[in-house]
Amino acid sequence: MLMIKGIGTDILDIRRFERLHLTWGNKLVEKLFNNDEVPSFSSNKKFIQSLAGKFAAKEAISKAFGTGIGSHISFKDIKILKDKKGKPVASIKKLNLEDSIHISISHSNDYAVAFAVVEET
Ligand SMILES: CC(C)(COP(=O)(O)OP(=O)(O)OC[C@H]1O[C@@H](n2cnc3c(N)ncnc32)[C@H](O)[C@@H]1OP(=O)(O)O)[C@@H](O)C(=O)NCCC(=O)NCCS
Repeated sequence: MLMIKGIGTDILDIRRFERLHLTWGNKLVEKLFNNDEVPSFSSNKKFIQSLAGKFAAKEAISKAFGTGIGSHISFKDIKILKDKKGKPVASIKKLNLEDSIHISISHSNDYAVAFAVVEET
């Protein structure tokens, strides 16, 4: 039987995230994302939208665990990749939780949103 441990959601202002990226560039990317999470560059808009969506997903997952981002879970402890069909798949370093975290990401020009469900294991 499915037991839900927690749910989490996050909304992110993409323009604000883009300004941070303009200021900090790769330093920001390296602080928040593992190498294999960084999308290949097709256009600046798509690149920023995709990173913003993954950032929102990491925050949503941290809320689903009830801890927020901090000493329990860091941004880089959470890895968001895509399956063959493009669906985002989340895992957490050191925890074998790949099948128990469910995420969904969406973005418009201005906002990225993400929703996460963590199953009890
Ligand atoms: C929980 C966290 C993810 C909140 O994110 P946020 O973007 O600051 O704020 P949001 O508006 O998305 O969410 C706020 C809501 O999260 C919820 N929330 C707070 N702590 C929470 C927790 N431990 N678990 C689940 N939900 C929590 C609350 O409902 C809160 O609303 P309230 O302030 O009205 O009570 C925050 O703890 C965090 O860790 N942020 C990382 C910040 C950071 O390092 N940024 C650097 C970027 S370069």
